Amino acid sequence: MDVKEVGAQGKPVDWLITGLAQVASAKGQGPVSGAAMEATVQEGVAVAISGGEIVAVGDAAELERTYQAKERFDGQGGVLIPGFVDSHTHPIFFGTREEEFEMRLAGKTYVEISEAGGGILSSIRGVREASKEVLTARLLKRLDRFIEMGTTTIEAKTGYGLSTADELKCLEVLAEANRLHPIEIVPTFLGAHDVPPEFKGRKSDYVNLLMEEMLPLVAESGLAEYCDVFTESHVFGLEDSRRLMNRGRELGLGVRMHVDQLTPLGGAQLAAELGAASADHLECVTPEGIDALAAAGVIPVLCPLVPLYLRQSEEAPARAMIRAGLAPALATDFNPGSCYVQSMPEVLTWAALRYGMSTREALSAATLNAACSLGRGARLGTIEPGKQADLALLDLPNVGHLTYEFGRNPVVAVWKNGRLVHQRPEVQGVRNSL
Ligand code: NIG
Ligand code: FE
Repeated sequence: MDVKEVGAQGKPVDWLITGLAQVASAKGQGPVSGAAMEATVQEGVAVAISGGEIVAVGDAAELERTYQAKERFDGQGGVLIPGFVDSHTHPIFFGTREEEFEMRLAGKTYVEISEAGGGILSSIRGVREASKEVLTARLLKRLDRFIEMGTTTIEAKTGYGLSTADELKCLEVLAEANRLHPIEIVPTFLGAHDVPPEFKGRKSDYVNLLMEEMLPLVAESGLAEYCDVFTESHVFGLEDSRRLMNRGRELGLGVRMHVDQLTPLGGAQLAAELGAASADHLECVTPEGIDALAAAGVIPVLCPLVPLYLRQSEEAPARAMIRAGLAPALATDFNPGSCYVQSMPEVLTWAALRYGMSTREALSAATLNAACSLGRGARLGTIEPGKQADLALLDLPNVGHLTYEFGRNPVVAVWKNGRLVHQRPEVQGVRNSL
């Protein structure tokens, strides 16, 4: 860092975080791939925060001399990482679906359950009956869990309303929660999640409703940044998906897509053709699909817990994607059906074990690449001067433990936009369990 002469008092800042074993973070504002995916690990450094921004990351003794902090935080030998950016979640729902989990344990598949009226359709009933206030209250509790596990930004999809009024209700719930809660929510309209029951056998009528009424109203409301579609032969095929996403784009929405999750339909090629911000899932993507994504520079958002949860044998070929120069992001896909999990540390462990990602690659995927997939790489995703101070402190002796050790939440404290928004209750005053 640039150490300037300062008075005896030092330059005033809001926070000085010291006593850290390591600061681990990717670098830069754009998506990282190849060797640049390995996050950098710094030792002996402290972090200064002011006005919601990181102002310095540098030699701890030097920062102590340079800055006069209003508040200090002793990291007690822990590891500081950027707050996780969970770039794929479906967090607005009323009831849970544990009976479907049991059905899968007994051998039924996701599609069989869906075709028998379960799946997404069962969540629709709950969301339609629930008021905006009830949905907001449930969402706020879930947002607390995200923060406790170190997630400071989520992308959040609608998709369990599937009528004009219920989808707009869900977008309003997201806007209200964004106002009330410190977590940052990036809203996505997923009206094309399934065909609702009243349109059974009339899929093209529902697609027309999306095209003519829902997408224009959603765009006009200003409540969504992105639109999304579940591109799969049992839901929306390639032609419907192309029309829907083109319409969303014309109306000014960004495009994210659920593609090649259960079958190799060619959704990745379509996401590339459309220049989507992200192509998500990709368990069944073909080599041609990977090449198309690489040529178009689309960010793959990978959700390694989902095939585990669905007992699906295919998994996203993450290493082949990295070899092809892609910059994958990692996400939970938190939802009541195919992944009732909010923990990004858990996602990182599974990305390491199943994809063969190194811990430092997985960290970059879960922070910087995820932020880039949401158009926020310039502001979020790394610990560097000028970036927003979104940070998670882990009671781990080194960053390798982030994947090596799992089944326990390692998050001790969380800052969002320079504000301490969570501190593990038993470590008031910053004690930890090292
Ligand atoms: O991402 N793929 C579609 N949507 C979710 C599942 C949602 C649900 O089953 O409720 C997913 O896996
Ligand atoms: Fe999803």
